[in-house]
Amino acid sequence: MAKGKVITIAQQKGGSGKTTLAVNLGVMLARKGATVAFLDTDPQGSLGRWFMTRHEAGRAEGMEFSTASAWGVGYEVGKLRDMADFVIIDTPPKADSDLRPALRVADLVVVPVATSHVDLWATDGVLDLARREGREVLVVLNRARPGTRLGAEIAQAAQALEAHLAETQVANRVAYAETLGQGFGGIEGARSPAIRIELDALLTEVEAQLAQAD
Ligand SMILES: Nc1ncnc2c1ncn2[C@@H]1O[C@H](COP(=O)(O)OP(=O)(O)O)[C@@H](O)[C@H]1O
Ligand SMILES: [Mg+2]
Repeated sequence: MAKGKVITIAQQKGGSGKTTLAVNLGVMLARKGATVAFLDTDPQGSLGRWFMTRHEAGRAEGMEFSTASAWGVGYEVGKLRDMADFVIIDTPPKADSDLRPALRVADLVVVPVATSHVDLWATDGVLDLARREGREVLVVLNRARPGTRLGAEIAQAAQALEAHLAETQVANRVAYAETLGQGFGGIEGARSPAIRIELDALLTEVEAQLAQAD
């Protein structure tokens, strides 16, 4: 079996949507028939809570979950890549040397930026580290507020980041927060097609970036 692709979600700022993107990318990939291994390196363990909730609901087929300390990432990913088509690594809100092992193993680093200046300011650290590791990066605007001045300002400023900016923005939707707590992805709880459209578009961009990293 070919080795699985590794996607690391990283951003120094807490609450930017790392776990949300980890979960939603994983669910979208699994819906396409891929096997997905989640690796939680954040001691807060939100991804683990999400996975266990999902597992208890009998919805974790084709998915695996494990945890690793910062320095155990390489070893754990080595095993997971043999088992799953995709390994998705969630990380703590840090951009220091502890993050390096999770960046080093990544085929693609996804960096969520919530719609605020503070989030944007926090982004340089992780971009810098990813660059030093020679990793492919995709910045994703999360909790986007289309039609607001703040939304437009952040989108504009994000263009100036030295990294690939996803065209797709993930909007601020209660459904993301709700489904996260239920062990689901946004698409599994959505009543509106908008959520499906944005997650499909995001996945297409992620897949394109992964193909480039090949
Ligand atoms: N696009 C979104 N729309 C609405 N709520 C969101 C969105 N993204 C994240 N959240 C909420 O914001 C909080 C922080 O998100 P989370 O993914 O846990 O961030 P991180 O893992 O970076 O700390 C959670 O309560 C989550 O449900
Ligand atoms: Mg998190």
